[in-house]
Amino acid sequence: MEVYEGKAKRVIPFDNGKAIMEFKDDATAFDGKKRARFRGKGWLNAQISAHLFRVLEENGVKTHFIGIAGDNRLIVERLKMYPLEIVVRNVVAGSLKKRLPLEDGTELSEPIVELYYKDDGLGDPMINHYHAKVLGVSEDELREMERIALRVNEVLRKYFAKRGIILVDFKLEFGKNERGEIVLGDEISPDTCRFWDAKTGESLDKDVFRFNKGDLISTYERLYKRLTGETPSHR
Ligand code: TMP
Repeated sequence: MEVYEGKAKRVIPFDNGKAIMEFKDDATAFDGKKRARFRGKGWLNAQISAHLFRVLEENGVKTHFIGIAGDNRLIVERLKMYPLEIVVRNVVAGSLKKRLPLEDGTELSEPIVELYYKDDGLGDPMINHYHAKVLGVSEDELREMERIALRVNEVLRKYFAKRGIILVDFKLEFGKNERGEIVLGDEISPDTCRFWDAKTGESLDKDVFRFNKGDLISTYERLYKRLTGETPSHR
């Protein structure tokens, strides 16, 4: 079976409807133009993703997460992934500033959901439902992904707020399982979300790497500790 190799992860599928998702220590930004490797990042993102998938499952959101396979690996349900990225935003940051005349840090009156076509060659362009339909994704499937994405936002926004962290925005990916259900896949980690400390406004995510704002590993370690209450044990 074909191994899928991405920039920050590797997915090894098995015949039994499961797959191993391995998190690498590599970090990239700006469509892979900026690259580095951080020892321990794969472990931190695997553990943080596992933790957040558990939080979602406890709140009735179906995810591909099955368990932790040790080190940088999760056991997940095998999904046929849609070539889409679903972004949800609560606060103005990042590329939203190119679309709306709003200042960085402005809280949105309601969440914004955006759709991107996952294609590095095209630079992951933003698309709408018409584009997605031409790519073979039906209106019902799009609505289901958007419904789940907004539910994820509700659950995680509250969860982070309780821990003094603002969930600014995040990116999700979905797939279909063998029973034809749409399931949340991929990862939910500081690589794919923006988290700001509610008191200081400090970034607790990959923006520290994108914009040279601090040390990635110590930032991810602090996030891990605030979420799990545990001291990270990566090597
Ligand atoms: P953006 O503001 O750069 O569009 O990013 C929105 C959110 O999506 C942010 O939390 C980071 C995440 N994201 C990814 O996970 N992968 C990507 O390739 C990009 C561009 C953003």
